Amino acid sequence: MNTIDVVLGMQWGDEGKGKIVDALTPRYDVVARFQGGPNAGHSIYFGDRSFVLHTVPSGIFRQGTQNIIGNGVVIDPLILMDEIRAIEQMGVDVLSSLRIAKRAHLILPTHRLLDAAQESGKGKNKVGTTGKGIGPAYTDKASRIGLRVGDLLLPDFEERYHALRDQHLRLLGIDHVDDAAWLEAAMALRRFPIIDNEVEMNSLLASGHSVLAEGAQGSLLDVDFGTYPFVTSSSTLCAGACIGLGVAPARIGKVYGIFKAYCTRVGAGPFPTELNDATGETLRQIGHEFGATTGRPRRTGWLDLVALRYAVMMNGTTSLIMMKSDVLNGLDTIRICVGYRMGGKQIDYFPFEAAGEPIEPVYRDFKGWQTDISSCRTYDSLPSELKDYIAFIEQQTGVPVDIVSVGPDRDATIYRTV
Ligand code: GDP
Ligand code: IMO
Ligand code: MG
Repeated sequence: MNTIDVVLGMQWGDEGKGKIVDALTPRYDVVARFQGGPNAGHSIYFGDRSFVLHTVPSGIFRQGTQNIIGNGVVIDPLILMDEIRAIEQMGVDVLSSLRIAKRAHLILPTHRLLDAAQESGKGKNKVGTTGKGIGPAYTDKASRIGLRVGDLLLPDFEERYHALRDQHLRLLGIDHVDDAAWLEAAMALRRFPIIDNEVEMNSLLASGHSVLAEGAQGSLLDVDFGTYPFVTSSSTLCAGACIGLGVAPARIGKVYGIFKAYCTRVGAGPFPTELNDATGETLRQIGHEFGATTGRPRRTGWLDLVALRYAVMMNGTTSLIMMKSDVLNGLDTIRICVGYRMGGKQIDYFPFEAAGEPIEPVYRDFKGWQTDISSCRTYDSLPSELKDYIAFIEQQTGVPVDIVSVGPDRDATIYRTV
């Protein structure tokens, strides 16, 4: 029986999961998304083309790969159908390479309205959600009233839809939502193979197929272990791949942990190493740190090893992948946070109180490099200052940095050992 490899974000999302999944896909038969929904924005660049995926797995642009949207994902049919049409326009035969889990939950138009209403009710305590209805859809799943993709095949789907929609409308205090296009898109999804993905996944592994699971968001946005309540509503950790695809923990193989050479965060919540200065602005401009889903400017800051070690521990990361190293080109000094100071004490772990008490980061400074690394394609050709930076991260996390990314294109990737 084969094991399943997992790609995960180690920070607050947008680490570059889309790029790496696309780059690794030629090694796999199947790529599967296991949680999150259209709150995700996974960018892929190849040659002069680029695409931002929201719900479709990032293996879709590699011919011959099967893509599965797992049961742990929440799907907005309108967004998914728009995405599928745009991918088809790029010449991809989506119908023959995408399957959708029966047990995946649907995001209704009223879930988006509930998301907006909950956010505006929070005043200055807003989470800063993507507004895609993620929280309310997962709430209905946990409340056992959600609608699932498999329900689309039932003769009374529309009645079930109307019952849940009307319940939401009552909560919202409104009597109408424009849902004709949503219903049309929901019906159009029935063209795709709708599968028992847990059975399919296990039989694929049993028959020797290789599977890559694609995470969305990042470890610090996990509903249990992230900076709650400033998190998303799903399990973004490696364990989430088991629940979101129906595979046993013993079936997990390599765990790829993706992190940026610095840090970003979109939306509200603690960010100990945030830079509200000219260096932060430089990282935002050079790194094009604007949301792939919402266009919001991303908050930027130095790499946080306390948070990274926490993510490595929670995920059992076996292989680290450092992204956007090129964005640090030309900086005189690069800082890494190695500890936190809280209430007068220094701590080296990620605290429960992260969302409540002020944290002062403790930094170690590294000398920057003054060359442009974006055309480097071998590890040996990288500047020694960058190699020192990487060696320190490896020593602090106990995990090798096996891949170094030096640009958005799938080819701007340096493989060391994997
Ligand atoms: P994801 O959500 O984890 O897939 O990441 P996003 O796509 O939201 O954000 C990552 C951004 O960084 C995208 O615009 C990528 O094209 C870009 N990117 C990925 N890797 C690199 C890299 O090594 N260097 C640079 N400069 N950009 C990168
Ligand atoms: P990818 O997969 C970065 C953030 C939102 C907000 C919080 C909750 O592209 O890395 P939600 O809409 O999920 O209820 O919002 O989570 N967030 C992300 N931040 N990348 C993402 O996805 C995100 N998905 C959600 O900004 O702070
Ligand atoms: Mg993203």
